[in-house]
Amino acid sequence: MKYLVAIVILITLVSCKKDQKTNPPKRGLVTEHAMVVTARKEASEIGAEILKKGGNAFDAMLATEMALAVVYPYAGNLGGGGFMVFRLADGETGALDYREKAPLSAHKDMYLDEEGQVIKDMSSVGIHSIGVPGTIAGIFNAHERFGTLHPKDILAPVIALAEKGFAVTEKQHKKLTHYDSIFKAVNGKNILFSKAIKPKDTIKNLALANTLKRIAKHGKVDFYRGETGRQLIDFLQSHGSTMTMEDLALYRPKWRDPIRFNYKDYTIISMSPPSSGGICLAQIMKMMEPYDLKSFGHNSLESIQVMVEAERRAYADRSYFLGDPDFVDIPTETLLSDTYLKERMADFSFDQPTPSSTISYGEIPSYESEETTHYSIVDSYGNAVSVTTTLNSAYGSKLYADELGFFLNNEMDDFSSKPGVPNIYGLIGGEANSIAPQKRMLSAMTPTIVEKDDELFMVLGTPGGSTIITSVLQVILNVVEFDMTMQEAVDAPRLHHQWLPDTIRMEVDLFSEDLKQAIEAKGYDINEASAPITARVEAILVLEDGRYEGGADYRGDDTAIGF
Ligand code: DON
Repeated sequence: MKYLVAIVILITLVSCKKDQKTNPPKRGLVTEHAMVVTARKEASEIGAEILKKGGNAFDAMLATEMALAVVYPYAGNLGGGGFMVFRLADGETGALDYREKAPLSAHKDMYLDEEGQVIKDMSSVGIHSIGVPGTIAGIFNAHERFGTLHPKDILAPVIALAEKGFAVTEKQHKKLTHYDSIFKAVNGKNILFSKAIKPKDTIKNLALANTLKRIAKHGKVDFYRGETGRQLIDFLQSHGSTMTMEDLALYRPKWRDPIRFNYKDYTIISMSPPSSGGICLAQIMKMMEPYDLKSFGHNSLESIQVMVEAERRAYADRSYFLGDPDFVDIPTETLLSDTYLKERMADFSFDQPTPSSTISYGEIPSYESEETTHYSIVDSYGNAVSVTTTLNSAYGSKLYADELGFFLNNEMDDFSSKPGVPNIYGLIGGEANSIAPQKRMLSAMTPTIVEKDDELFMVLGTPGGSTIITSVLQVILNVVEFDMTMQEAVDAPRLHHQWLPDTIRMEVDLFSEDLKQAIEAKGYDINEASAPITARVEAILVLEDGRYEGGADYRGDDTAIGF
């Protein structure tokens, strides 16, 4: 018997060793000095080129964001908005909100018909879905505060890229083909991207090159008060928009205090309202913290139960309490307090789900309510930026300003058109996120930076609508709880729950039948097909020896480049 046990142990040890040999941890690109991870190789290359020239992360942000507008018009933009969370080499952190705003002419019921019903597609497709763009103001504000190179030098390679053109990838080709009929319907004609494009074809965007030349010369004033602004407003008004030059002139990005919280040995810094990202992420992680996820195991039934139950409670709070902080009071302190979150999880049980129908927002004492893309950059000085930027859904409103070379957002759909009526992500909102002139619509974008022992540890974020928050959550947990490399953490299968609809969305064909059956046997509903998870995470991890590992999502054309 003794011998038998010894032989079994030996065989197990040998096979474990063999396993490690044949399956070494999968690492992303590892570099020594700096790294840029974006949705496209060309954009990562341009960002890295700026860093190599001695530029810092904010110089690289200006270049990268505009390069994405050239090669990745699906989400990269001049006609949208975004959020940036930064951490300087000396540890200072902050956040910039360059979210779109409702135009002055907007009003609460603007998407309702005479019977008070939501008019289908009005807030999400075409001319009426467009919020006042914030992108150019945002990237220039970040650059004015922290940048070191001249915008002309920063934008030169981007302009060259627009003029020389970029090669259409297989994945990009699929998307362009998919949306072509909507481009034609919204624009009333073919646009630059609707001719018969094949994979590997080159697309040049000379109109965008000209716009960028003007912006490089005059700065953001060209977009908000100058030639580009005038052309844009003429174009929008000719299509029936009520947006005016005053809307553009009034637009200002805002520096905000990020949401900062601790999870075990880590400090997490993420986006504050008008994004729900930071608050929801903090609520979910704090609700999960008391459970021993490591011993439950990655994507085990128990880990999934804890995560899903924390998520549904946080998303229920989101829909009630969160909106633009310049318009509504958000009880942030209470929402993130240990007492409140403990109470929120008090009815959680491993025996069965807590149905969403029995969960509403939490009780706050005396509270009176009244296709996106992410990039992560670390420069050779140790500064980090985490930026998520968007037109909202793929190609935004689908309206393309052909003489300027860019798409306009459909961000107005992120407002709650009517209480209780879901938006395109199935998210339900209330009074806090109702439409008002000059108000910013609630977002789920979650650009995030993680510190360990007061040092930079991780930079990450993702697109994916309502699944953004839960994707960022899972990638962080994959590293800090389940010891994955950055690339493994990004690659691992993901799932999502958002309170309503009361279902667990799982990436298709990536979870075992046994696990799915066990989840269903507990009483949970699973949806694999009709609501895909579209998150594509771009992340950077600081390794123990100080080098950087990139995590570029295999789900897209995402690429890490550094040196
Ligand atoms: O701000 C938001 O939460 C949404 N407009 C983000 C949209 C998005 O991520 C689309 N990407 N797949």
